[in-house]
Amino acid sequence: MTTKPLIIISSRTGNTLTVGHAICDALPGAVMLKPSELPEDLSGFNPVLLGFWCDRGDAPEDMLAVAPKLNGKTIGCFATMGGDPEDEKARAWMKRTSEKLAAAGSGNTLAETFLCRGRIDPAVFQRMTEMLGGTASPEREARRRASETHPDRLDLERAAELFRGFFGPSW
Ligand SMILES: Cc1cc2nc3c(=O)[nH]c(=O)nc-3n(C[C@H](O)[C@H](O)[C@H](O)COP(=O)(O)O)c2cc1C
Repeated sequence: MTTKPLIIISSRTGNTLTVGHAICDALPGAVMLKPSELPEDLSGFNPVLLGFWCDRGDAPEDMLAVAPKLNGKTIGCFATMGGDPEDEKARAWMKRTSEKLAAAGSGNTLAETFLCRGRIDPAVFQRMTEMLGGTASPEREARRRASETHPDRLDLERAAELFRGFFGPSW
């Protein structure tokens, strides 16, 4: 049986959704669904790509809830975050979180991961700043500004290229 690539996408403000569209366009026959739209029977889908955002140092709840339903799949993960994706802690987060999601079901293999910046919702940034005493430190402000224009064209190209190489026509 031939299987189609499935992209499961969790996105609160649209950053990860934008990356998901770029990857979906790069994979012939790929289908992109929200966690709430998943059918019961996933046997016609493989590989499965999980697209999510960094939610307080974890994956968002809807992605955590859906991951145990995946069994025997080759999995790719992509994510966006407000912080610096090249930072060692960010890389460790991506690795740890992707491995956790892939291991939530049984018999899955994690094949590839991709992480880039994503613009932080200004209302969320403001709320966090208030919780931290009312003033954004220069470091926090610099991180916010650096993420402001992401995901950008290069992020989308890199993500599409990576997954096309792995899961494209020759997979
Ligand atoms: C509730 C909440 C928690 C967040 N927690 C983190 C975090 O712990 N680390 C981080 O780098 N970014 C964090 N962010 C920023 C988002 O991960 C980032 O803006 C992401 O691109 C949002 O993706 P989306 O537009 O697909 O929802 C958080 C954003 C929200 C709304």
